[in-house]
Amino acid sequence: MSAPATPNETLLEIRNLEIRYGAAVAVRDVSMTVKRGQLVAVIGANGAGKSSLVRGATGLVRPSRGEVRFRGEDTTRLTADAKVRRGLVMAPEGRLLFPDQTVDDNLTLGAYVHGGLKGERARQTRERVLEMFPRLRERLGQLAGSMSGGEQQMLAIARGLMAEPELFVIDELSLGLAPKIVDQLIGVLRDLNRQGLTILLVEQLAAHALAIADHTYVISNGIVAKEGPSRELARDPEVMAAFLGKAH
Ligand SMILES: Nc1ncnc2c1ncn2[C@@H]1O[C@H](COP(=O)(O)OP(=O)(O)OP(=O)(O)O)[C@@H](O)[C@H]1O
Ligand SMILES: [Mg+2]
Repeated sequence: MSAPATPNETLLEIRNLEIRYGAAVAVRDVSMTVKRGQLVAVIGANGAGKSSLVRGATGLVRPSRGEVRFRGEDTTRLTADAKVRRGLVMAPEGRLLFPDQTVDDNLTLGAYVHGGLKGERARQTRERVLEMFPRLRERLGQLAGSMSGGEQQMLAIARGLMAEPELFVIDELSLGLAPKIVDQLIGVLRDLNRQGLTILLVEQLAAHALAIADHTYVISNGIVAKEGPSRELARDPEVMAAFLGKAH
C-alpha cells in the first residue's frame, strides 16, 4: 500500500540515468522530475531512447548508472512489480494486452498487485474505470485481441488504472491509431489528469503531447535535448523544426 498523498510532492525523480543493451547505450544521461498532479510529456524521434527511459524508470530494465527515486525512496534496483505496488504503473508501448483473454480478465489482471478483484476497493476501482470507458463495459466478455486498436488502447489504459497508479506512465498513446481516435484518447488523458491523476506521457506526436502536457522533455540520442513548459516549447523554432513540421 502506498503512503498518503502530499500535494506538490515530487513523485518521480530520475537522476543521471543510463540504460544500456550490452555495448549499446540507449539512454546516456537523463535527469527529470514529475510532481504530483502534473502531466509531463516525453517527446523525441524514433530510437531517441524514450521507451528505454520509461522502462528504466518502471523497473523493466536495469539502469547501468543513475538513480530512480519514487516518492523520495531510492527504487533504482526494485523490480517492476515492487514499483507497481508503490503506485508506479505503466501502459507499455504496443499495449501488451492478453489478446486471448476477455476484456474483463485483462482488467482483473491489472489489479493483480492488489490481490485481483477480491476486495471491495478493487471492485470500486473497476466500477470507476468502467464508468470512464463505457465501450469496455459493453465488451467485457469479448476477447481483447478482437477489438479495434483504439478499444485496445482504452483497455491498456483501463488495465493500468486498475493498479491504482500514483503515477501513470503511458508509452506511445497514439501508436497505430487513426487521428480521430488519438484525439479522443488525448481527451481521456486530459480528463484523468484534471481528476488528479499524475501522468508521464511518451508520445511520437509531439503536437498532441505539447497540447496537453504542463511540462515537456525532448529526448534526443539518449539525452535531454530540451525541456520546459510545453507552452514555451511549442513556440520554440528548434522544436518546431524537429517535430512539429512533420507531426503527421
Ligand atoms: N532490447 C533492446 N536491445 C538492444 N537495443 C535496443 C533494445 N531496445 C531498444 N534498443 C535500442 O536503443 C535505442 C533506443 O530505443 P528506444 O526504444 O528506447 O527508443 P524510442 O525513443 O522509444 O523509439 P520509438 O520512438 O521507436 O519507440 C535504439 O537505438 C534501439 O534500437
Ligand atoms: Mg518507444
